[in-house]
Amino acid sequence: MSYYFDKETNIESKEITTHSEIKGSLYTFKTDNNVFSKKGLDFGTRTLLENIDIKNINGDILDFGCGYGPIGIYIASNTSSNVDMVDINVRALNLARENAKINGTSVNIFESDIYSNITKKYDYIVTNPPIRVGKEILYKILIGAREHLKKEGHLIFVINKDQGAKSTMKNMEEYYNVKLIKKNKGFYVIDCQKC
Ligand SMILES: C[S@@+](CC[C@H](N)C(=O)[O-])C[C@H]1O[C@@H](n2cnc3c(N)ncnc32)[C@H](O)[C@@H]1O
Repeated sequence: MSYYFDKETNIESKEITTHSEIKGSLYTFKTDNNVFSKKGLDFGTRTLLENIDIKNINGDILDFGCGYGPIGIYIASNTSSNVDMVDINVRALNLARENAKINGTSVNIFESDIYSNITKKYDYIVTNPPIRVGKEILYKILIGAREHLKKEGHLIFVINKDQGAKSTMKNMEEYYNVKLIKKNKGFYVIDCQKC
């Protein structure tokens, strides 16, 4: 069995080129077998990108679990931020590099298992986090983000109600000032500010 969050895969590569309009601009994303949402932009990711206040996103940004790159590429295309993008999945990272070039963005992409290779602190960590990895790893990502945020930095993430959005939001209140940005068709976009 192979999963989108595996570091390496034996599953044959079969790249496809997808196009997505996000807030009036067109993006091209190459995807492949064994990466998340290989058929094109995930609805949760779209909900996240369409509802973050892009005017306020600036400084040092981390796209955690970048997959083939839609979050970091969208932020780099629409802000003058310094964008880092990390994932554990080598195939996804290679696609993200290619997609960054195709979309004319300058970003910094590298491998990291959770925060193992993260040395910087960020103004914003933005993520559609992996859910299928289980709650223990999910919480390491969400709570662990605190250590990689600057003072008053934000973790912004999307999660579906069927994946425990309400309880996750409640549990994050122990670590952050939590605000619901948007609820759309079961997807919650949540802002957690470091306090
Ligand atoms: C839900 S997908 C989101 C992908 C992409 N950001 C998007 O919105 O299409 C979560 C991503 O987290 C990555 N991931 C899973 N476990 C990870 C880990 N331990 N460290 C880093 N990234 C991980 C997966 O490989 C996957 O690409």
